[in-house]
Amino acid sequence: MSRTEGRHTVTLTVNGTQRTVDVEARKLLVHLIREDLALTGTHVGCDTSQCGACTIELDGQAVKSCTILGVMADGSSITTIEGLSTPAGPLDPVQAAFHEHHALQCGFCTPGMVMSARQLLRDYEKPSEAEIRHGLGGNICRCTGYHNIVRAIEFVASRGRNP
Ligand code: FES
Ligand code: FES
Repeated sequence: MSRTEGRHTVTLTVNGTQRTVDVEARKLLVHLIREDLALTGTHVGCDTSQCGACTIELDGQAVKSCTILGVMADGSSITTIEGLSTPAGPLDPVQAAFHEHHALQCGFCTPGMVMSARQLLRDYEKPSEAEIRHGLGGNICRCTGYHNIVRAIEFVASRGRNP
């Protein structure tokens, strides 16, 4: 990370590709991702670190990217929802299960929900319903009632398609 007049050069690996951006020190990682990397699949749903819409993977761990400064991610690898599949497909197994089990409605929470579900499926080979609901405690969905999200995650685990 280099520094010029209050701005910082941040280099990180984004969905497998090295990217360098020049950002203000106060810029949150979620805004760096959306504004400087133009990856708008990562959403902002609150200003209280509660909704989980901004969840990404930072060095392989799901994190809320609104809780981290962009400069803190310098030298790290991040995966956003855009990194899970290409427009030509195929979908990531969790994305496919969400699609097949109608685990989304408006879709606003879905990118963050998918990233948290992937973490859950790395932490538990076959999570129980209670473990899934607990694991998704940091992600808020206004639409679905969560039922089909739970079913989708159970489906991925039942097929052994955990990430
Ligand atoms: S925008 Fe990060 S938790 Fe809501
Ligand atoms: S699908 Fe609309 S907020 Fe979750």
